This record gives sequence, structure tokens and C-alpha cells, in this order.
Amino acid sequence: MAVTKKVRFAVIGSGSIGRSHMRGCLFNFQTELVAIADPDVERVNETADMYAIPKDRVYTDWREMLKRDDIDAVIVATPDQCHAEQTVAALESGRHVLCEKPFALTLEDCKLMMEAEKRTGKKLMVGQVGRYAPGFVKAKKLITDGVIGEIFYAETEYAHDYSKIPGKTINGQPCNWRLDPLRHGILGGGCHALDMIRWMAGNPTEVTSYANRMMLKDWPTDDTSITICRFPNGAIGKVFVSIGLKRNYTMRSCFYGTKGSIICDNTSDHLMLYRTDLEDKGIPFTTPLRIDIDAESHNTKAEINEFADIILNDEPVRTTAYEGTCTVAFALAAVESNRIGGPVKIDYNF
Ligand SMILES: NC(=O)c1ccc[n+]([C@@H]2O[C@H](COP(=O)([O-])OP(=O)(O)OC[C@H]3O[C@@H](n4cnc5c(N)ncnc54)[C@H](O)[C@@H]3O)[C@@H](O)[C@H]2O)c1
Repeated sequence: MAVTKKVRFAVIGSGSIGRSHMRGCLFNFQTELVAIADPDVERVNETADMYAIPKDRVYTDWREMLKRDDIDAVIVATPDQCHAEQTVAALESGRHVLCEKPFALTLEDCKLMMEAEKRTGKKLMVGQVGRYAPGFVKAKKLITDGVIGEIFYAETEYAHDYSKIPGKTINGQPCNWRLDPLRHGILGGGCHALDMIRWMAGNPTEVTSYANRMMLKDWPTDDTSITICRFPNGAIGKVFVSIGLKRNYTMRSCFYGTKGSIICDNTSDHLMLYRTDLEDKGIPFTTPLRIDIDAESHNTKAEINEFADIILNDEPVRTTAYEGTCTVAFALAAVESNRIGGPVKIDYNF
């Protein structure tokens, strides 16, 4: 009987996203969850109990875990500040890596990870999970197929309320890693919206951004920003980010093309499509077509499925380290524009 080869994953970080990745590994016929690591003793043991992971596969020291000889790939789902060190170490140990977003908080760290990928020849993927939300996957396909023509204006957003995220601790000690002056709202969570506009419309060349801090007054960074940008083909875009607003979490996005428009997000069960090419069939563009989709805002299962396929078939990574780095560069250019009060050019030569 033919034996199907599986990718044996280990996960570093057993917080909310780490657990989501663990479920993704457990519920996929091409993957196994071999081991997990987290310095928080209580949390890592609770996680092991939740997913029936034997105690000899549970670590408080991720470096010890990497000494196992039965791990093919590692998922880095730890605070942003840990991504570069753990990703580089896992690549150096001969494992493929899926690293959470934002890829890193500095371009220097992004470059360290890209260099390690090149040096080791292992595969490195960034977890920009918006690219796996069914609404955005459908929108991307419509755009790539030319259904709405050439994009001339796009807008994306990231709307959240970080005051509702519980304070973090490690082994009982406060450790709210989101409260880092390097973790600007537009980079930490806003990278989802920046990545989305880049994925749909390409790399913007210049950015101007305005920001304020009127909601999370004790936060070390601004909580709300509007970022406007220009694309090489003349298209323009707007990215709205708030980590302190009073509204449900979503990423409402609009893509306007020369032949139609798409209005979509990552939490609804449908998207709206307006197209001009059906007018001669009696359907005016003002009659929107409703396309039903599954609502799956954090589709880590699809990310893991794609990564496992890529590893098993030795294909190139699609959501690459370079893509993760471009999104960080875009975010940091927006932060710089806030600081200087004017437009900033974005350099994607890393
Ligand atoms: N893809 C998404 O939509 C999404 C959503 C939320 C968070 N994230 C990202 O995922 C990562 C984790 O976020 P979270 O919400 O799960 O955070 P969390 O605070 O819930 O969990 C982080 C876990 O990492 C552990 N940890 C801390 N330092 C560590 C270290 N040095 N080594 C190993 N583990 C360590 C903590 O004990 C904790 O259990 C962050 O990079 C965050 O930006 C992504």
C-alpha cells in the first residue's frame, strides 16, 4: 500500500495564533504536529492537553525542541520581536519555516531572515493570512482574470480594538509585547491591510500618511492612520488602520477598475462585484453581482495546506519572505511619513 508522505511540523508559541496553527497541522491529511514549545509552563501544558500532545513532545525551550530529529518544518507564532532569531535558527537547523506576520519590526531583521533562507536553501513563507481569506482569494482571482480591468483606485483597512486584547503574561510576569514603540499600529496589525493593497494593486512607490493617538492614549505608538499611496501605473490607494476603534474587527476593502469594482472583506459570507461587460446582456453595472464565499478571516488551515504542498512537491513559496519584507518596508515608509509630515519614496531593493 502506498504511504503518503507527511510534513512533520513543530510550532513555537502556544498563544492564540500558535494554537490556530496547531489545529491547522492536526486537521490536515498532509501534516503531523510533532512538537510544541513555549516558555510559559502553564500555557504550553494546557495547550498540550487541548490537542493531546504527549509530554515528551512539549518544550519550554524552543532550542531544545529544535534538537529533535523528526521535525521537517517549524511555525514561528511568537511575539514579533522573536521572529528573526527563531526563524534564522530553525532555517539553520535544516527546517523549512512559516513565520507569522509582521515578518519583523525592522528591515534589518527581515534581511537576516532572507539571507538565512538563501544560505540554507530551505523554504521560508510569511504568514500574511489575509491572502488566504476566501473573500480576498476570490477578489484576487477576479482581478487577475481581468474582470474589473486595470485598477485605478484601491482602498483597504484594518479595524481593531486593542484595548480589548487581554494583557499578556509569561509565567505570571507581565509581558505585553504589543506595547513596543517599534510596533506601530500600521506595522503590527496594519500590515494586513498594507499587504492586501500590495497584493491586489502592486508595490506603491510613494506614500503619505497621517496618524493620531486619540483612542489608546497610553499606547507607545499612534493608534489610527490614513495612508495614501501612488502606484507605478498611475493608480492611487488608501489604507485606513485603527487599533483603537469601536467597531467589529474586519478588513473592508474596495478595488475600482476600468471595467468594474469589487467590494469585499475577510469576515463576510459574500463579496459584491460590479461589472460593465454584461451591460450588452441587459445587466447594468449598477446591479451588483453577489458572490457567496466562506467567511474565514484567519485561514491558517489554508496557509498550512499550501505550505505542506509546496514542501512535498518542492515548489517555490508563494507568500515569500521578500513579500513579507516589502510589506514591512511599506509600513516603515508610512511611519516615516507620519514623522516628517510629507511624502516618502519606498525602496524595495533588499
Ligand atoms: N495572522 C494573524 O492574523 C495574526 C493574528 C494575531 C497575531 N498574529 C501574530 O502572531 C504572533 C503571535 O501572536 P498571538 O496573538 O498568538 O500572541 P500571544 O501573546 O497570544 O502568544 C504568544 C505566545 O508566545 C510565547 N512566547 C513569548 N516569548 C517567547 C519566546 N521567546 N519563545 C517562544 N515563545 C514565546 C508566549 O508565552 C505566548 O504563549 C505575533 O507575531 C502576532 O503579530 C498574527
